[in-house]
Amino acid sequence: IPAGFFTAFDRQNSLLYNADDYEERKLSDLQGCFVAEEIRHQMALQENKTVYRVYKKTAPLVAGELLQAVTVLFPGTVNGEFFMTRGHYHIHPKCAEIFFCLGGRGLLLLQKGNETKWVEMKPDVIAYIPAGWGHRTVNTSLAGPLVFIAFWPAVAGQNYQRRLKEPFGKRVFQADRSYVIGDGD
Ligand code: PA5
Ligand code: NI
Repeated sequence: IPAGFFTAFDRQNSLLYNADDYEERKLSDLQGCFVAEEIRHQMALQENKTVYRVYKKTAPLVAGELLQAVTVLFPGTVNGEFFMTRGHYHIHPKCAEIFFCLGGRGLLLLQKGNETKWVEMKPDVIAYIPAGWGHRTVNTSLAGPLVFIAFWPAVAGQNYQRRLKEPFGKRVFQADRSYVIGDGD
């Protein structure tokens, strides 16, 4: 079977075997994501931790094709607000997405207009992101990374600006050994 026709989740190394594209997001890439923006900025100037890694399998960006990516979202907080992905809306309004949780604990935040929903992510949960909903994941555990694989249409595209106008309505903070969901901006 040619390499292009399969991938595998490498559990040992927490990555996507046969991936052909890779992305790393550090605190310096997450401007404006956390309530404590100034603290994020200072942390970025100092240790500048990696917040998440994305291992992607590419495909032709045409109708009918599908993309896949494994996200490894590391544990940590910015002043008690858990590490999260930037979050985006799909450019194509009719493109949904599926997340399959492979490890860790977290929340998937979903946003459409003023409406916020969330799905608890833990191993074996399969979350459905309907077309039109913005999506962001949060690692709610300091014990280890939240790991999930995403599948979505190749023509979806990602809009990272729209969350500035239609921000995620909830934020997730550390509380004792768990989390609390607070109001967003
Ligand atoms: O396709 C997706 O929605 C995910 O694979 C995300 O791209 C990934 O989790 C990284 O998040 P973001 O694209 O918001 O930086
Ligand atoms: Ni997406």
